Amino acid sequence: MRQPSTTDSNDPSASEGERLQKVLAALGWGSRRTCEDLIADGRVTVNGDVAELGRRVDILIDTIAVDGVPIGARPDFVYYLLNKPRGVISTASDPQGRPTVVDIVPLEPRVFPVGRLDGDTEGLLLLTNDGELTHFLTHPSKGVEKEYVVLLRGNPRLTDGQLRRLRDGVELEDGPTAPAKVGQRSDSTVSITIHEGRNRQVRRMFEVIGHDVERLVRTRIGPITDTRLKPGAWRELSLAERRALIQAMAGDARR
Ligand code: URA
Repeated sequence: MRQPSTTDSNDPSASEGERLQKVLAALGWGSRRTCEDLIADGRVTVNGDVAELGRRVDILIDTIAVDGVPIGARPDFVYYLLNKPRGVISTASDPQGRPTVVDIVPLEPRVFPVGRLDGDTEGLLLLTNDGELTHFLTHPSKGVEKEYVVLLRGNPRLTDGQLRRLRDGVELEDGPTAPAKVGQRSDSTVSITIHEGRNRQVRRMFEVIGHDVERLVRTRIGPITDTRLKPGAWRELSLAERRALIQAMAGDARR
């Protein structure tokens, strides 16, 4: 029988990183208490060894498994990254019969888009059947960054004052926006990073400062980015990407 791993001073992951029970709880294995029981019952391994309570792990390095199933690789969950083209609707079904993002990816198992992009917005969209991850990525309190490239109509350069307004927050009809990261990339192109995800938020923010958005492309969701995925193409997230998301969720659980 394999023995519980003990704290090993040669193993950096033993003294740094997140507590294992917090990581498991963040991944939806149950309450912190339930996860402590999983560990105490010897059902959790780290790098192949049965883990003991209080063990710290680095999700990007350590291989954690529950009942022999590596976390981040649960066979019942799928994670697709789609480069949504313009004109495709990001709901699960459209009463008007327009093409939707779920028409592009495999039908089974059934997946749902993680948040929404407007019909005329392009770029990265995740689809999954993992409800915990969806909640984490979309709930405003989690503060997960989403980055966009914005092409403005009429080739303007934003003034310092306009950049500052966007960065500090502008007043929209549903309240002020939270501070954003904003940078002028070239004439007419601006990058903006927000973490709220309100309806048509980026378009409305630019409207307030007097600019029309001609093209809006999402280029990053938290740690997930891909400059090579063609519009309309999709792929599964890699294990490294899933681990990066798990890492973000575990970091959130620590707060
Ligand atoms: N902001 C918008 O205005 N539209 C989107 O689709 C996403 C963010």
